[in-house]
Amino acid sequence: MDSLKRTHSVNGFANVKSDAQQGLDDSSYQQWASLLEQRTGVLVTEPRRQFLESKIRQRMREIGLSDPLEYLESLQEGPLAAVEWAVLVDRLTVHETHFYRHLPSYELVRDRIVPDYLNGLRQGHHEHAFHAWSVGCSTGEEAYSLAMMLGQISQSQVRPFHFGVTGTDVSQPSLKTARAGVYGLERILEVPEQYRSRFCQERDDGQFEITAQITGRTGFAAVNLMDIRSFPIQQLELIFCHNILIYFSMLKRQEILHHMVRFLRPGGYLVLAPGEIPHWTHPLMTLVKHHRTLAFQRLAGETDA
Ligand SMILES: C[S@@+](CC[C@H](N)C(=O)[O-])C[C@H]1O[C@@H](n2cnc3c(N)ncnc32)[C@H](O)[C@@H]1O
Repeated sequence: MDSLKRTHSVNGFANVKSDAQQGLDDSSYQQWASLLEQRTGVLVTEPRRQFLESKIRQRMREIGLSDPLEYLESLQEGPLAAVEWAVLVDRLTVHETHFYRHLPSYELVRDRIVPDYLNGLRQGHHEHAFHAWSVGCSTGEEAYSLAMMLGQISQSQVRPFHFGVTGTDVSQPSLKTARAGVYGLERILEVPEQYRSRFCQERDDGQFEITAQITGRTGFAAVNLMDIRSFPIQQLELIFCHNILIYFSMLKRQEILHHMVRFLRPGGYLVLAPGEIPHWTHPLMTLVKHHRTLAFQRLAGETDA
């Protein structure tokens, strides 16, 4: 923080004040970008600079501030720092999501990951429930997509199996929407008919709610991936991580993935969006070959590296 203040006092915000419509000067922009990276891991690259600047300016107008320095400082200390940061971080991060967004990844879950789990059950190799984690779940579509798929497969078995999906995100407003489990028609049309007819129910107001069979198996938690080191998660069958690591530095991506490996049970899967990280390897993980996907399986029987 000292370094932030020092740079402020040297450079000041004089230009910024007189230049409100054009964004922040270089030094202020760097300070805002590094605060965001420090706290969320999200990198603001030059093409996203305008986005960052306009969101900060917009928020300052809403709360009646004109000095970016004052605003930056109010986020570091004071009674409302945490509350205001929660609002701002929601504005500064990208929340775009869809039901069944990257279909090949879901096909991999349906055609290989769940059958693998069921084989283990049938052969008496294990009796545990199927636990999945939707990382950076935004407004919940990804977590519900997984839960609906698992729900349908489970119901088609002679002996339905137990499953649970946990969605996590740093954005409280997104999690609020996720927990409500209510979506408009446009969103719901992304859900394949086989799941929609069974698990999405139209309400009187024309919105659709995810049925209790699915919401009862899906939970959401506010979690910052920057704190992954201390997550109390373990023995997961599936980690589904799409469109989040791409916003982090390469070093941070590797660190996060390293921790994720520890959360998987031997034989469990990590399914990333293609492009989430290039050329990643880990001694406990083997690459899964499946059309248009990027996935890894934790080696069975291995202990943590
Ligand atoms: C683009 S959305 C991806 C949603 C979903 N995974 C998908 O692929 O459709 C990225 C999400 O990551 C969340 N996010 C960003 N930084 C985070 C962090 N440090 N910890 C937890 N979530 C974070 C954002 O709030 C946002 O909802």
